[in-house]
Amino acid sequence: LKRDYSMGSFMVSTDKSRLDLKAIHGFLKDTYWAKDISFEAVRKSIRESLCFGVYKEDELVGFARVITDHVAFAYLVDLFILETHRGRGLAKWLLECILSNPELRDVRMWLLATRDAHALYKKFGFKPLTHPERFMRLSKTDVNENTNMG
Ligand SMILES: CC(C)(COP(=O)(O)OP(=O)(O)OC[C@H]1O[C@@H](n2cnc3c(N)ncnc32)[C@H](O)[C@@H]1OP(=O)(O)O)[C@@H](O)C(=O)NCCC(=O)NCCS
Repeated sequence: LKRDYSMGSFMVSTDKSRLDLKAIHGFLKDTYWAKDISFEAVRKSIRESLCFGVYKEDELVGFARVITDHVAFAYLVDLFILETHRGRGLAKWLLECILSNPELRDVRMWLLATRDAHALYKKFGFKPLTHPERFMRLSKTDVNENTNMG
């Protein structure tokens, strides 16, 4: 189910055919959490997720990806706004669109990992884990280097 939201000359869309994979890969490969990710890995992860593109006219200026079963759990990942468009509320608007999306709004548990944007997500009700000792991870990458999850 595709959805579009608009704010001035900006648009958020869940239409995957609009996504500029080259621009998304170009940004993600230089982030701390997806450093050197391959184009194919980005393409596959997008194919298997619910994705949100942020556009100014036809240019992709932001992105987020949600890994989910639409009921019990959703993992929010790869969220960014291009540097030239930061500081004007686009990330907050993108989060509103994601959390109110009809396919996602009944999800019981959201998780995300971030190095420094906690205050952004706190505005939407995200909190630190209550019982981190109940969570376990199995990491197939170089721990701490190539992941947001530590
Ligand atoms: C984080 C990011 C998405 C914010 O995008 P943005 O469009 O500039 O954010 P907004 O203008 O919607 O505002 C963000 C709000 O969160 C706050 N905030 C908290 N931590 C922040 C952080 N690390 N970076 C940016 N804003 C942050 C801002 O102060 C602002 O609050 P305010 O409205 O009270 O002033 C953007 O800086 C980005 O893409 N950064 C690089 C990628 C990244 O780190 N992504 C997050 C990975 S989990």
